[in-house]
Amino acid sequence: MSEKNRVWRLRKRPVGAIGDKDLSLDQEKIPEPGDGQLLFRLNYLSLDPTNRVWMSDMKQYMPPVALDEPMRGAVCGTVVKSKTPEFAPGDVVSGLGVWADYQIATPATVRKMAPVPGVPVAEAFGLFAIVGPTAYFGLLEIGKPKPGETVVVSAAAGAVGSVVGQIAKIKGCRAVGVAGSDAKCRWVVQDLGFDAAVNYKKQDLPAALKRACPKGIDVYFDNVGGPVLDACLTQMNLNGRIPTCGLIADYNATAEVSGPKNYPSILMQRLTVQGFIILDYANRFPEAIGALAGWMQQGKLKFHIDMHEGLENAVSALRTLFTGGNQGKLMLHVA
Ligand SMILES: NC(=O)c1ccc[n+]([C@@H]2O[C@H](COP(=O)([O-])OP(=O)(O)OC[C@H]3O[C@@H](n4cnc5c(N)ncnc54)[C@H](OP(=O)(O)O)[C@@H]3O)[C@@H](O)[C@H]2O)c1
Repeated sequence: MSEKNRVWRLRKRPVGAIGDKDLSLDQEKIPEPGDGQLLFRLNYLSLDPTNRVWMSDMKQYMPPVALDEPMRGAVCGTVVKSKTPEFAPGDVVSGLGVWADYQIATPATVRKMAPVPGVPVAEAFGLFAIVGPTAYFGLLEIGKPKPGETVVVSAAAGAVGSVVGQIAKIKGCRAVGVAGSDAKCRWVVQDLGFDAAVNYKKQDLPAALKRACPKGIDVYFDNVGGPVLDACLTQMNLNGRIPTCGLIADYNATAEVSGPKNYPSILMQRLTVQGFIILDYANRFPEAIGALAGWMQQGKLKFHIDMHEGLENAVSALRTLFTGGNQGKLMLHVA
């Protein structure tokens, strides 16, 4: 192979939003797999809020990316060379890898993607690798929604949020989204079947939530933290549940992050607030994938990919997560 390999490396830890010089895109040699390894070509790169967390030297659920190392990401690609019996050229694999055209993997870092009838590879990777299981286990295991209850989800037009609201509907709940534009609010109601949505950037959030949730909130699926969490805390019903999935409102914070102002609601309303990391459910992924694929095949679950083109656009695409520029699952098509 005479081609070069483009590799994104983390050069500086971002302060606030990701800066132009925090990562560099370098031309390098295509690596050769050793015994027990395989080489694959990147087809799709998942762009996730956690990429920004991995760039920070903070206490987190896995080590941050070290300076000058390739940027880490969830990847989907096609095997080019294999020196391990588990994989052969042409196999489609997904797992944890790096932002590079070509990369080395082992059977411990990637797995073969089993084809799901009626679901194209990009959708299968986007929905089943992280997003769908996160929505599924976070809502059903921690949120424990009962038919007739009200489920509110923030970042409702994003990857996880859009799936959470639809699962809430499938489970017989009232689904209310919180999103950052009127277009996103219309999309989740008109196209995805949510019962209502409120625009947190434009509306008085506690008042708008009160109108959208006349019986209060039983489950608040928190994707963002910050002021949206505070507003939801004012409307929680007795024994309500809050799966803490993400805190994107704070990932770019430059000052110390303050806790929720309405913390007393947790005591007065006997709330259960539980954080989770989807890796904790890794051995139960087949259950989630089976349910999600079934709902897709029955036309009960829609999944939208916000696809960007070209490895060179990884950073600019990633930034859209923090400005609300994405709708659905943000992903990069590479080759
Ligand atoms: N616990 C886990 O294992 C796990 C797994 C996957 C994802 N997550 C978390 O889940 C959340 C959603 O992830 P995703 O991949 O589905 O991303 P996403 O929702 O597709 O994209 C992020 C969205 O967050 C919203 N947002 C950005 N800044 C905000 C702010 N300051 N306040 C309120 N909303 C803001 C934006 O939408 P608006 O236009 O509505 O502002 C943006 O579109 C993230 O916090 C992520 O870290 C956790």
